[in-house]
Amino acid sequence: MIPSVLPTYNRAPLTFVKGEGSWLIEADGRRFLDLAAGIAVNALGHAHPALVQALTEQANTLWHTSNLYHIPQQETLADKLVEHTFADTVFFTNSGTETCELAVKMARKYWFEKGQPDRVNILTFEGSFHGRSSAGISAAASEKMTKGFGPMLPGFISLPWMDIDAVKAAIGDTTAAILLEPVQGEGGIRPLPDELLKDIRALCDEHGLLLILDEVQCGVARTGRLFAHEWAGITPDIMMVAKGIGGGFPLGAVLATEDAAQGMTAGTHGSTYGGNPLACAVGCAVMDHVTDPVFLENVNRKAGLLRQKLEGLVASHTEVFESVRGSGLMLGLKCKVAPGDVVNAGYDQLIATVPAADNVVRLLPPLTITDDEIAEAISRLDAAASQLGS
Ligand SMILES: Cc1ncc(COP(=O)(O)O)c(C=O)c1O
Repeated sequence: MIPSVLPTYNRAPLTFVKGEGSWLIEADGRRFLDLAAGIAVNALGHAHPALVQALTEQANTLWHTSNLYHIPQQETLADKLVEHTFADTVFFTNSGTETCELAVKMARKYWFEKGQPDRVNILTFEGSFHGRSSAGISAAASEKMTKGFGPMLPGFISLPWMDIDAVKAAIGDTTAAILLEPVQGEGGIRPLPDELLKDIRALCDEHGLLLILDEVQCGVARTGRLFAHEWAGITPDIMMVAKGIGGGFPLGAVLATEDAAQGMTAGTHGSTYGGNPLACAVGCAVMDHVTDPVFLENVNRKAGLLRQKLEGLVASHTEVFESVRGSGLMLGLKCKVAPGDVVNAGYDQLIATVPAADNVVRLLPPLTITDDEIAEAISRLDAAASQLGS
């Protein structure tokens, strides 16, 4: 008999009932070190006092009004995002998937308004992930996500990752935009080298194309800069943000330049819940933390520490691990065994990690993880690897 919850997930036999900082407490009382952070969501860890306060204060005041009216918390959050990024304007959503929908619509409307309605094609990349909507799976085009769900939406051209010649060859009269994750997450923690991101920006400039960056997983200080593209010294025209921006409360945002957003006038897009007072009150509190230069410095220092210790872990378990890769606190362990086996052995050692494609285990700790917790994580991963190998 089908369970009452649609069985689209292979869930681990774990039920967490409480979270404290970098820790998840199982129903049976066991304490797990959380290097999953809800898949890069709990940027400030679990039950961060500032987020709890922002949410409860807002919950005691006003939950929801819809976007028929002005929402002061939404305007404050938009102002903060505009102040700290390339963007001139922001639209709020409830998830990363919805940001993909708007980013695609915005790019196509841009060209429609420019009198070039045939420019509808978005160049995307193999290994990418942009969500589970029809547009999201059409954009990522992986067999795993699309099989059985055809027909796919037209207007997406998937190219090999990191192949700049393929990008050049694919640009034509019908190209509207290029869409990519600066660090592929689900694809196996695959950072695009800064030089290639600069080259892609230059190609967009040369051909007048819009550059859409999906920073749903790699954004919001995860890589040690507020947004990952900052490392390459470029800016996008449109950016998709979610996950960390809500710190665990469902919230996403599409950021855009005034030019890129010019087609999105009143009535062209909307959302009942997007940017509601509860979500934006939490988002403001997250932004106040992650934009603090001291916070970012700490993320970079801790990222260096974790990476260095992981290199040692790989060196002492060469039969289990191949290498470490990634950026900031978005790290991947390329495995020689099935990543699911590493994740399961991790559960035995009371540590949560996330499998990804390309035989990689993702480590996405809360950005607030402490040095002691990093040391503890390594010792638990070491025990998990010993369980699997030598
Ligand atoms: C890069 C990227 N884009 C989009 C999404 C979709 O976000 P959501 O699951 O919030 O809809 C994800 C989720 O993992 C993601 O990692």
